[in-house]
Amino acid sequence: MHEARIGTAMPVAARAPALMPLEVRGLAYEAGGAALVDGIDLTLTAGEITIVLGANGAGKSLLLRLLHGLIPASRGEMLWNGSPLDRMVRARQAMVFQKPVLLRRSVAANIDFVLAARGGRDAARRDALLHEVGLSDHAGQPARLLSGGEQQRLALARALATRPEVLFLDEPTASLDPASIVKIEQMVAAAHGVGTKIVFVTQDLGQARRLAGDVVFLSRGRVAEHSPAEEFFAEPASEAARDYISGRIVI
Ligand SMILES: Nc1ncnc2c1ncn2[C@@H]1O[C@H](COP(=O)(O)OP(=O)(O)OP(=O)(O)O)[C@@H](O)[C@H]1O
Ligand SMILES: [Mg+2]
Repeated sequence: MHEARIGTAMPVAARAPALMPLEVRGLAYEAGGAALVDGIDLTLTAGEITIVLGANGAGKSLLLRLLHGLIPASRGEMLWNGSPLDRMVRARQAMVFQKPVLLRRSVAANIDFVLAARGGRDAARRDALLHEVGLSDHAGQPARLLSGGEQQRLALARALATRPEVLFLDEPTASLDPASIVKIEQMVAAAHGVGTKIVFVTQDLGQARRLAGDVVFLSRGRVAEHSPAEEFFAEPASEAARDYISGRIVI
């Protein structure tokens, strides 16, 4: 039985992110003489949650880092609604990493820091964000003492604090318990609902089905397939995706 979908098409009232669409042509990233990501052609639009799937080492994290400007492309072109990825564009995006990156400060100070960097402290907004991710009781505690799942929720709250137009999430629920996973998915769906473009990497096919509007499937550093979610899960076009979904992972 299919699980209920959380991600829906963007409500009409929501403001489409001005950074979209994203047009990527021939994007590549090389390190140590090897092309780890290559020949990426991709068009992402505002309307749907984009799920990125692929086996370990397929290049999912590298692709997100390229799209967010954390590593330089070796080749290719990327345009965010016609603009190259400069500091201004990047400031309108946020990312939640596979391993949470937090400041060695209190939970509350981690959010204050981001809010201060983007135009001013706002204690009410900080407290609302902490409440949303269920961390109000930990506000004064050092962030590094949080559990892995709690750190991941704080990382999401911090990313949302900036009200990004584009939010990249790299396996944000990989180490979370079921209740925390639901909470994160609801927050991501809510951000999508107010017009944030979501690009979400996961290995959890149930989660992918719940959230996905479209699916980008990576195999060996290339886009093997990019399809609407219904099509992808009904019948993947690529052999690599068929193997992945059926558990026959080919590296
Ligand atoms: N700086 C680097 N130098 C050399 N190889 C790298 C570098 N960064 C990543 N790689 C390699 O590139 C490949 C893709 O890495 P990436 O982290 O994007 O995979 P992934 O799809 O996110 O995998 P996972 O599901 O395990 O998170 C891997 O084989 C990895 O070892
Ligand atoms: Mg990864």
